[in-house]
Amino acid sequence: MKIFLDTALVEEIRELADLIDGVTTNPTLVARAGRPFVEVVREICGLVAGPVSVEVTALDAEGMVHEARELAKIADNVVIKIPMGKEGIRAVKKLEAEGIPTNVTLVFSPAQALWAAKAGASYVSPFVGRIDDRAGDGMELVSQILQIYENYGFETEVIVASVRHVRHVVEAALLGAHIATVPYAVAVKLFDHPLTDEGIKRFLSDWEKVPR
Ligand code: G3P
Repeated sequence: MKIFLDTALVEEIRELADLIDGVTTNPTLVARAGRPFVEVVREICGLVAGPVSVEVTALDAEGMVHEARELAKIADNVVIKIPMGKEGIRAVKKLEAEGIPTNVTLVFSPAQALWAAKAGASYVSPFVGRIDDRAGDGMELVSQILQIYENYGFETEVIVASVRHVRHVVEAALLGAHIATVPYAVAVKLFDHPLTDEGIKRFLSDWEKVPR
């Protein structure tokens, strides 16, 4: 499973750039970075070799396509994040036909994910955390999407998004999701276990007792 970082903060990306497979951003994350949009996208695209999702803000298909074409000029690894909906799906069809990769975002139902795949989206992003926040089952949605895609041989990759904790990442991997996009705070926890720290400490103190 590929691990993307879900952030627009270049210092976070720089720290893990050699280990991650890509980056996803959204307007909220870009606002948090507090820097000019195009400048920050260009810098992120230069830091990672993998895909970098960047979201459009237009609400009509024509406007989305226009914005997407401009964003795609920033770097070869830009992926256009398109919000789910009729207009979004129209934009995805057009952009993918032009060779501009898309990531359908704000997906909360298997039917929405079916439309994304039918339109030829490169990626689809179910938001598991926001579903779980409302006492739903985000991972059940991921499982349904993966089943539907397998039934029809769709090549759209599933990005498990809105990840809240390590368990989301593990469950995504157990289900066979292609990608999990994780906030920095969760990404660093993926390396950790208290028993690993304790084990290293004990090995080092025992090593001191070895006659040299
Ligand atoms: O990037 C999309 C998604 O991961 C946002 O997550 O935490 O705002 O629900 P969150």
